[in-house]
Amino acid sequence: MGIFSRARPEAVPREDPISTILRLLVETEKHPLKRIPAAGLEGEAKEIAERLNTRLDAVASAEKEQQQFIADVSHELRTPLTVLRGTLEVVLEEDRPAEEYREAIGDALLEVRHLTRLSQNLLFLARGQSGRVTLSFANVDLGRFIVDVTRDLLPAAADRGIDLAAEAPDEPVRAFIDADRMQQVLHNLLENAIRYTRPEDRIRVRLSSAPDEATIEVIDTGIGIPPADQPYVFERFFRSDRARRAYSGGSGLGLSIVRWIVEAHKGRVEVESTVDRGTTFKVRLPLI
Ligand SMILES: Nc1ncnc2c1ncn2[C@@H]1O[C@H](COP(=O)(O)OP(=O)(O)OP(=O)(O)O)[C@@H](O)[C@H]1O
Ligand SMILES: [Mg+2]
Repeated sequence: MGIFSRARPEAVPREDPISTILRLLVETEKHPLKRIPAAGLEGEAKEIAERLNTRLDAVASAEKEQQQFIADVSHELRTPLTVLRGTLEVVLEEDRPAEEYREAIGDALLEVRHLTRLSQNLLFLARGQSGRVTLSFANVDLGRFIVDVTRDLLPAAADRGIDLAAEAPDEPVRAFIDADRMQQVLHNLLENAIRYTRPEDRIRVRLSSAPDEATIEVIDTGIGIPPADQPYVFERFFRSDRARRAYSGGSGLGLSIVRWIVEAHKGRVEVESTVDRGTTFKVRLPLI
């Protein structure tokens, strides 16, 4: 027997999975978000690579979303800042009567209010996303709650000649909610209903309850939302063309805040709408 026959064929050393992954990570070091080439791998090495790739995909898509968000924010800031700058530049060009200064300052203030609201909404969404908004739940009678919140918005509705009222069952419907946040939900929905309706239109806030769920509906007879736009209304910065024509001051954040708050209550929010006939938003909340 010669000495060479002792080497068995499978003795070619196989790289263990950890070393394989380590080698691939070092090789792709310059491109930290690039997937690890998993095609030629087997067994545990393949599984580790695939799991890492799933994580990398998630990070890459979060980063893409973040970039889009920054682009959208910059775009939203540009219009009010341009208007603000134009207004102030024009009024400062020459001496003017006091009345004209007053008017310009009033216009500038509107834009400043718009920017303030925009920054508050953005801050809220950013905090919500990073889990820094804590809700404090309390046992609340939803019937009283909707009547009280609706009352706050009666003057705004009356200004536009819109008939607004709340309808609740006689018996109390109790739920655990964060009343301040839920007030923000109802405010945003009512503000939309008031904006996207015409004088003489009607808005109703209606509460109903099933054994395990309460539903708050905000029903308006306003301009409606085209079917093609309905899937997008809860997305940040989305505004339909007819909404832009009806009211230019919005930024498309109200409903994303509504959805965030409702989901933080383990509820859901739905929209039904017919163009020129009206829109209904339904907020469904679990009862305990
Ligand atoms: N009651 C409604 N009737 C018709 N369209 C609506 C109604 N509510 C929402 N929409 C549509 O959904 C879009 C998004 O609403 P959202 O409240 O998020 O933003 P916005 O009202 O445009 O601005 P913001 O609330 O940030 O001031 C609106 O621009 C409009 O196109
Ligand atoms: Mg809105």
